[in-house]
Amino acid sequence: MSFKNGFLWGGATAANQVEGAYNEDGKGLSTADVITAGTYETPRHITWRNPKTGETGYSEMTIGGTRVAPKGAQPAILEGEYYPSHIASDFYHHYKEDIALMAEMGFKTYRMSINWSRIFPNGDDSEPNEAGLEFYDHVFDELNKNGIEPLVTLSHYETPLNLAIQYNGWASRKLIDFYVNYAKTVFNRYNGKVKYWLTFNEINCMDMMPFIAGGLIDSSLQNRAQGAHNQFVASALTVKAGHEINPDFQIGQMLAYSQVYALTPDPADQLKAIQQMDDTLFYSDVQTGGHYPNSRLKMYEREGVKLDDRPEDYELLAKYPADFLSFSCYTSNVVTTHKDQAEGAGNFQIGVKNPYLKASSWGWATDPYVLRIALKTLTNRYHKPLWIVENGLGAVDEIAADGKIHDDYRIEYLQQNIKSMRDAVTIDGADLMGYTSWGCIDLVSAGTGEMKKRYGYIYVDRNNDGSGTLDRSRKDSFYWYKKVISTNGEDLSNNE
Ligand code: BG6
Repeated sequence: MSFKNGFLWGGATAANQVEGAYNEDGKGLSTADVITAGTYETPRHITWRNPKTGETGYSEMTIGGTRVAPKGAQPAILEGEYYPSHIASDFYHHYKEDIALMAEMGFKTYRMSINWSRIFPNGDDSEPNEAGLEFYDHVFDELNKNGIEPLVTLSHYETPLNLAIQYNGWASRKLIDFYVNYAKTVFNRYNGKVKYWLTFNEINCMDMMPFIAGGLIDSSLQNRAQGAHNQFVASALTVKAGHEINPDFQIGQMLAYSQVYALTPDPADQLKAIQQMDDTLFYSDVQTGGHYPNSRLKMYEREGVKLDDRPEDYELLAKYPADFLSFSCYTSNVVTTHKDQAEGAGNFQIGVKNPYLKASSWGWATDPYVLRIALKTLTNRYHKPLWIVENGLGAVDEIAADGKIHDDYRIEYLQQNIKSMRDAVTIDGADLMGYTSWGCIDLVSAGTGEMKKRYGYIYVDRNNDGSGTLDRSRKDSFYWYKKVISTNGEDLSNNE
């Protein structure tokens, strides 16, 4: 047998990309609610208004650290703009139907997130919003009724907007208290319903997308470094609090993992690849390993970054690391110092094209070895249980003449990736807890804001412009994944 008994097969979503109902039942605005839709070619916009002058405008959601609104202006919803998170896939009103479909596929687990601004609408409120708490009670009850174990991300690319505006998001240490209070509130409320938790989605995106990963309006290197530090301390305090509330809780880290290859054997390229991996693994060195690596401290020294820290921060980091390390992994990335060979890649990935791999329409290469390499790297470095919580293919699905979606391209991607992860378990002995592929039900793309970049086994009738009935249907991959789960990953064939 390849995967252990009780291996947690399932799928993953994020509240801001699937729920909709952005202002219902007392929910406050989050950073996700002020980001418009874009495309592969056109970046999404973060819209803003200056409350004193009434001036409005936007900044492009691009990779790196810039201000997302000019001084005096605040991220805001503008009339006439389209914001895909506002309705998304409307899971808020379809959750029973959606969970029934997951159960039909045989899901053992469902990774979802709680929208922080549904529970604390402004982030710094003294009391939680009861209607928001009740919504997740219903969702967890429905999952438990269907034998599906929830895996809950506390913060997935949405920070209450008020915290971004009043405090510059995670750049402020005040966020540590607000977040830990939020975590304790949901730990106590859902104790007995939820056992597995993740603190921050893709925590290393603080470097690349500081507004969506940390609510930073001013995202200088100093602020990003502070934002990451504050999230590390919050994670340690959350692990501490969670274990005090229920010693059975498992509270994991979530890292965006993209394997970096060097384009050439030129040692300068090799060094560049290693340095880029260090930039990613810095985040797991601290959150899972418990210590800052010297390379990052040296970089801060060189760049004049001075952390607002306390000696006890470092004691907490060492004492309360994450219980397990989960990660997203879709593709690999290639870097080079030979600029003449540089051809661009897509979305959150920075680098050049890999001549050995085919890429999706959004520039993400399908790499049949990447999960094995990721699992090997992380096992060798941390010796902790691992969980793949995102993987999948974003593709345009066409409805065929028979009214169905024959998504063989998605099945092929998943076959290659699951085989790669199986090799990591059977050949290398990786301690893998589960696999939740991304966007098991179609949802809004985080990178581009599109609906047409679909990952799901379940199709949602909704288009980029917001049209569509929101009806759900089963793609071919739905039946394929059902078989994969029922054979515990032994039968990956696509012959029906
Ligand atoms: C990860 C995020 O970056 O990748 C998800 O955790 C995101 O929120 C997913 O949706 C896929 O990226 P995209 O840009 O295709 O939605």
